[in-house]
Amino acid sequence: VATPPVWAETALADVPALLDDHAHLEKKAALNALSLMHRWPTRGAASAARTWTRKLAAIARDETDHLGRVLRLLERRGETLSRGHKNPYAARLHRHVRAGRGQDELQDLLLVSALIEARSCERFTLLEDAAPDADLRALYKLLAASERGHGHAFLDLAHLGHEGDAIDDRWATWLEIEAEAISAQALGPRMHSGWRA
Ligand SMILES: [Fe+2]
Ligand SMILES: [Fe+2]
Repeated sequence: VATPPVWAETALADVPALLDDHAHLEKKAALNALSLMHRWPTRGAASAARTWTRKLAAIARDETDHLGRVLRLLERRGETLSRGHKNPYAARLHRHVRAGRGQDELQDLLLVSALIEARSCERFTLLEDAAPDADLRALYKLLAASERGHGHAFLDLAHLGHEGDAIDDRWATWLEIEAEAISAQALGPRMHSGWRA
């Protein structure tokens, strides 16, 4: 499901709040990549484990770099990172992960990661078009490209452990779950907010 462009206006109505939410998400994205580091699939040889660990290390490095960039823009506005953060969108997605089921759980975690990256990429593109200043536009342009790459990387990792058809079926299910989750979110200055009042 596509986000209507009007969403970006609501999100940018409170730029410090949006940057704060965004910074927390970058931190969580780095932690997510690191938490998957040791979970390379049993299927495949040592080369699969090398691809796995390298891709995740690169993603964690990128997300930490993104975090630093967002923190700098937050500080320039006289703000600092808040202590607490909630993400009802990601929480709702994670309820559908087949927890405790080995490779199925891993497949879901990778597909959810790919979806969140794809959604973030879409939102950065909308924010780039609507952002009020050049610094924000440059940030969102850079991140849209980076998160697009991460989305593809997580899909590649999902394919390392599973046959194509099984992934495609599960991906179709996840697209429905994600469409429902994002549409149900409240309006507000957050990366994964909804667009309906
Ligand atoms: Fe990021
Ligand atoms: Fe990312």
